[in-house]
Amino acid sequence: MLIKTRDDGFIHPVSSEITPQRVYDGRRDLMKLMATGAAGVALAGWASRDALAQAAPGSGKLAALKGGKSAVAGAVTMEKVTEFKDASTYNNYYEFGTDKADPAKNAHTLKTAPWTVEVEGLVKKPGKYGIEDLMKLSAQEERIYRLRCVEGWSMVIPWVGYSLAELIKRVEPQPGAKFIEFVTLADPKTMPFVGSRVLDWPYVEGLRMDEAMHPLTLLTFGMYGEVLPNQNGAPVRIVVPWKYGFKSGKSIVKIRFTDKEPATAWNKAAANEYGFYSNVNPNVDHPRWSQATERRIGEDGLFAKKRKTLPFNGYEAQVGQLYAGMDLKKNY
Ligand code: MTE
Repeated sequence: MLIKTRDDGFIHPVSSEITPQRVYDGRRDLMKLMATGAAGVALAGWASRDALAQAAPGSGKLAALKGGKSAVAGAVTMEKVTEFKDASTYNNYYEFGTDKADPAKNAHTLKTAPWTVEVEGLVKKPGKYGIEDLMKLSAQEERIYRLRCVEGWSMVIPWVGYSLAELIKRVEPQPGAKFIEFVTLADPKTMPFVGSRVLDWPYVEGLRMDEAMHPLTLLTFGMYGEVLPNQNGAPVRIVVPWKYGFKSGKSIVKIRFTDKEPATAWNKAAANEYGFYSNVNPNVDHPRWSQATERRIGEDGLFAKKRKTLPFNGYEAQVGQLYAGMDLKKNY
């Protein structure tokens, strides 16, 4: 998340460039944890560097999860799909470390079964869903979405899931429900970086009700025809393709309907840098770097020309009307 643009204009995941101080502090905390053996799980991950090979699609390590063709407008792009090995080894999942390679090395400790998602707050039908039941609640579709990270890189990923709206309709929101909060797992036993001061755990994200109901918002269980690898947010995450990637919370345990705008993890950490809306917007710079261009992971070399970032990540025709009349500079 917090990576500085270098003078030469490249956004580069060099750990020494990660700011602010709390990230350094977090690293120091991890070192301390390791010294005491409490983060043995992380060390075990580093010891087996073939974790990546194990997760190759079709390798038989991940269960197949095929999605049908989606009829939702904007759900498919003709752009070249990012290679699975890039999408599953270059990740942001801070519970498992702040380097892009950390989640693939460390997230094997995440226990994805049994898994329950609790639906609570302002709904007529609150309840707990076992992951298997949640997966069967509606037909799984494949959606090929661009994911644009706030740091300035992007990928094109074939996700598998169904519109979050299907679940929302099922639980019947009360009239007062204006927002949805997504609470993700924060288990210090299996997530070596939870307990560090990088973020105020658990990682929480949120959407306005109409954003959550938009058919493009995907309750996601898989990618590349298989269930999600742990590092990509197994067993269930959100993908909101027109917003910066950090809005797409991983490994969700609670979906809460509320009348107040949820306090989200990155907004709490740096409110002037990460707003609640975080719609992809080439015209609103991050305070420390431009958002006008992006680097497509895997496709372009680090020194290749960047692409232009599109308003709403290219989904303006589908979602632009959600923000009619809003000042998107103020509501960044
Ligand atoms: N969810 C949790 N729980 N923890 C995280 O650190 N990182 C976010 C988002 N969801 C994050 C998270 C960020 S910054 C991005 S860009 C996307 O996940 C990355 O998703 P991917 O690794 O599947 O590409």
